[in-house]
Parts: sequence; structure tokens; C-alpha cells
Amino acid sequence: MCGIVGYTGTEAAKDILISGLKRLEYRGYDSAGVALERTSAHETVVDVIRRVGKVAGLESELANVDAEAACGIGHTRWATHGRPSTVNAHPHVSCDGRIAIVHNGIIENFAELRSELEGRGHTFASETDTEVFAHLIEEAYAREHDLLGALREACTHVVGAYGIAAVCADEPGVIAVARKDSPIIIGRGEHGSYVASDMIAVIDSTRDVVVLEDGQFARLTPEGISYTDAQGEPIEPPVTHVDWNIDMAEKAGYPDFMLKEICEQPRVVRDTLVGRMTGGELSIDELGLSLEELNLIDRVYVIACGTSYHAGLIAKNLIEMWARIPCEVEAASEFRYRDPIITPSTLVVAVSQSGETADTLAAIRDARIKGAKVFGITNVVGSPVARESDGVIYTKANKEIAVASTKSFIGQVVSLTLLALLLAQVKYRLTVGQVRMLFRELGDTAEQIQWIFETQKDAIHEAALACKDAHSALFVGRGMGAAIANEGALKLKEISYLHAEAYAAGEMKHGPIALIDPGFPVIAIATKSPVYDKTVSNLKECEARGAKIIVVATEGDEDIREIADHVIYIPRVRDAFCAITATVPLQLLAREVALMRGCDVDQPRNLAKSVTVE
Ligand code: F6R
Repeated sequence: MCGIVGYTGTEAAKDILISGLKRLEYRGYDSAGVALERTSAHETVVDVIRRVGKVAGLESELANVDAEAACGIGHTRWATHGRPSTVNAHPHVSCDGRIAIVHNGIIENFAELRSELEGRGHTFASETDTEVFAHLIEEAYAREHDLLGALREACTHVVGAYGIAAVCADEPGVIAVARKDSPIIIGRGEHGSYVASDMIAVIDSTRDVVVLEDGQFARLTPEGISYTDAQGEPIEPPVTHVDWNIDMAEKAGYPDFMLKEICEQPRVVRDTLVGRMTGGELSIDELGLSLEELNLIDRVYVIACGTSYHAGLIAKNLIEMWARIPCEVEAASEFRYRDPIITPSTLVVAVSQSGETADTLAAIRDARIKGAKVFGITNVVGSPVARESDGVIYTKANKEIAVASTKSFIGQVVSLTLLALLLAQVKYRLTVGQVRMLFRELGDTAEQIQWIFETQKDAIHEAALACKDAHSALFVGRGMGAAIANEGALKLKEISYLHAEAYAAGEMKHGPIALIDPGFPVIAIATKSPVYDKTVSNLKECEARGAKIIVVATEGDEDIREIADHVIYIPRVRDAFCAITATVPLQLLAREVALMRGCDVDQPRNLAKSVTVE
């Protein structure tokens, strides 16, 4: 996740920006930079200082810069377009260097805008989507000589998400700000005006803030702040007083990172789909394979570990159902020591949130030596998995801090679903029209997840109470439900230390049913699907032996209450997409149980976020 901070006032901007950037650093970064206004007797210029790596590096560089500026903007970057490097670091500047901007979000039509701007003589210095904004503002400024007006006009050309702050050497002391789908807060303090993407960056200086809404603009000066709407009409947005402490501010007011990250999942779905349907056609340009090469693929291996492996189990169902290509899912730690059957027409898909899991990397290397094409799905731009694969999709989950994966799993499942749709399209197993329809439905899962947050809180709490004192629990399901059960069981055991296993519901009577005694929790995924009745039959067998039955069911299914002690509903959704929605209540359930058992949900014992050893 990127972070923005800006200040204009009477104090040294450099210090305020560095302290704000340090506060934003916990989200991860790959580079940081500032733009500071410097005024001499004759003119004002904008100095841009950028550094790859930690904010501390930027800070030491700034120590040598004689910067007395009282106006500036800063940024920490979590790369999405373009590798982590100094040229790709923000701020980005216009051709004449007089306008500098920092941006959070993704500009979907940047490729188009870039070629238009280049055609009109603009020169680009970076690979980022952001830079188009600097050049668009430059063009508009040449006509209007008004920074905020130029920013407003630039926004009319941009499709995508942005929180943006801009400064211009011709308007010293002014910061122009805009927002669409990317958070921006603005505040007034004793010594000036502040802007940030997150309260944490400015909490020491101001606690009375305006949370900018989509389509609103702000103009900050040392003396005050004015707000306008998309038409340039003045508005007076409400001011909110924030009394969070630092710890609460880091978590955006959530009690823990895990909950914050679970709640970000609707955004992850949306961001991962941005730019994938262009001109009515599904595209994954980063795949690194031509359509002809894709068409030749006759076997897919998904290799991954832990939660990422579970995303692979979902993908197997989708790839085989839609593309009719055999798909094996294998723990990378096993794959690397076997002798799997790999030919030049095998596609190996390596899934890794961190992009640096040792077993997954070793498996990638092995697969490539054996002649497979390897495609990576990762959350970290420029990570070893990204670098060592033939092509890569980035999951757009942004930095995940809680050790247990939640939002990156959803990003992985959405990305793998896109891959399955693409393979089906290339193999003519689905028509372009069908792919478009499925793509739309995939996007709808963002709202469906939101519905779960809004309506199922109490049901999840009740289910958690029913599990919290158990010694063990079973997660069961069939088809997609069986794949989801694996992730539900892993989440519960890793953060609550309550032993949990996942079983295909039909396997229960081949052994695990012996575990069931009165009160034993059985958590089932029994959504309306072709195997619904079969799953219900298996649950009846558990009920007959006294199990406490908790079911994730489809909204409106009242019959399930006959056997279930607790029901958590998810919206009616195509079976292919229920992994996305049905996993969410299981994440929340695991978190509630862990909290009830007094566990640290963000940092469970014995675990690490990146597993870089075998
Ligand atoms: C579970 C979890 C782990 C990781 C696994 C792989 O919540 O986070 O099981 O999924 O260690 O890590 P990545 O995806 O980084 O390769």
C-alpha cells in the first residue's frame, strides 16, 4: 500500500514529511520520496528527492539537503505498476519539473493516456501509471494557470482510483488534492494545513480532519483550506474529531490488522479486476504467453504452500470445469522433490503472497529446468516469484500485515479465476459472451462480501461461542465446499490453536466420523450447489451422533435450520464464486474464536509472515 503525506505552513516541511512517512512505513514500502518547494530571491523551484528502500535512507539523504521549505509532499511506495526503483518512486514531475505529484491508486487507462501524451510531445521518465497525471496537469495548467483547476481537469481524463496531491512552483505554498476510491484526509493544525492518505501520518499535528469524499477537491495553503466539488463549486465537508491513539490509527480504527485486512476484501476484489476487461475482452497481458502458446497448454500444475495452496484447490475446480484442462494442485514442498510429469505444454502456476517462500521458489526453478512455462501469482511486485516466472499477475491486496493470510487469499482466488476464464476462452470452451457474464458476476462478489459484514456479525459471534471451548473441530464440504473447508480449518487452527481438520463431507464415514461425540463442532459449507443435498445427508449423520453443527448456507435457505445449530448466511452466488464469499465468514469465525480464547490474532505463535527457509 502506498502512503501520501503533505504539508504547507510555517514549519520545516521536510521534518513533517519524514515523520509522516515513517508512520506510514509499517505498511511496507519499496521506495520513498518528497517534493519540497525552494524559494530564492528570484523564483520558486520544486526539488524532488527519492530513494529506493526505507524512509531512513531518504531521511539521511535529506539531512544533506539545505531544505527550508515550508511546503511539500511525500510518498512511500508499494509498487503496482513498474518495478521498485528510483525513477518509479514518487513524486513524479511534469516535463518542465515545475509540477510534482504523489498518487495512491491505479490508473486503468494509463497506457492510452501515455501514448496520447507522448504523441503531444511529453517525455516520460518512469514506468508508472501515476506519471500520466503529472503531464495531464501540466497541459491543463498551461491553459488555466490554476493548480486546482488543472488537477480537476486532469481527473476528467483519468479512469481508475486516485488519492492525489500536487504542488506547483508557480503557486508556492499551495497543495491541490483530489480523491476517487482511495482514502484522503485533510486537517488544519496550529502550524499549517496537512493532507495524508491515512490519519496515522498526521495524528501528532491535527485531530480535526475532513475525510475527503469521491469527487471532492481541496486547496491547502498555510492560512487555510478550501473545498470544492467536481464542478468547482465551494463545499463545506464535515470535520471529524479523531481521538485515536497511535496504535488505533495504524489499524485505521480497527482493533487488529486481521480484521482491517478482512474488511479490505471488497476493495481487493475490485482492484484485482481493474483493467482486465478491455474492449469487452478479458486480458492478462502480463502472462508472458501468446494466445497460441496458451492454446497448446494441456496440463496445469498449481504449486504453492499453506493458504496459497488452498487458493490452488479452488483454481483446480474452475480450470477443469471451464477450460477442461487437467489441473493438479501440489504443495511446493512436495512438488520439488518428486519427478512430476512436465512437458513444454505444461503450465505451472506458482502462487505466493510474499513471493519469497523458499519451497515455492525452488519448485519454480525445478519446473523451468524441466521445460514448463511458469506463471506467478503474487502480492509483491519485484519479488523473487515475480522475477523468476515467465509472467505474473499481482493480486492488488496491498501489504498484508497480520500473519494469517486473508485478503491476499481473496486476491489469489480472483486472479486464478481470471486465469481459468482466460484458458477457457482461448480453448473455445466458453464464449466471449459467457466470459463477460462470469466476469461481471465475479465483480459482484465485492458487494456480496460487504453484505456478509453488514448482516452476519451476530450469527458469526454465536457460532464462535459454540466453538471456543472445543478441543477439536471438523470443517466439511463437497466440491467447492471441500476446498473452502481447508482454508476454514487452517485459519481456525493457526490463530486460535484449536485443532481443526478439513474433510470432503463424503469421506466422513470412512473414518473421521469416529471423532464425533456430543458437542463436537462440525462446520460445514453447504451452499446451494449441485451437491447440496448430498452434503446435508452427511451432516445428518453427524447430527445423529450429537455433533454441534454450524453451517455456512445460502441466504434464504431456511430448511438447513432443521439440522444446524447455527447458520451463517452468504448471498446466493454461482457455485464457481462461492469460495470468495464463503471464506469470509470462516475468517471472521476463526478470528472471533481466537479472541475468545485470548490469542493474539495478528501474530500467532511459531509463525512468520515470510517463510524463506525450507
Ligand atoms: C496462512 C498463511 C500461510 C501462507 C504460506 C505461504 O494464513 O499465511 O499458510 O499462506 O506460508 O506463504 P506465501 O503465500 O507467501 O507463499
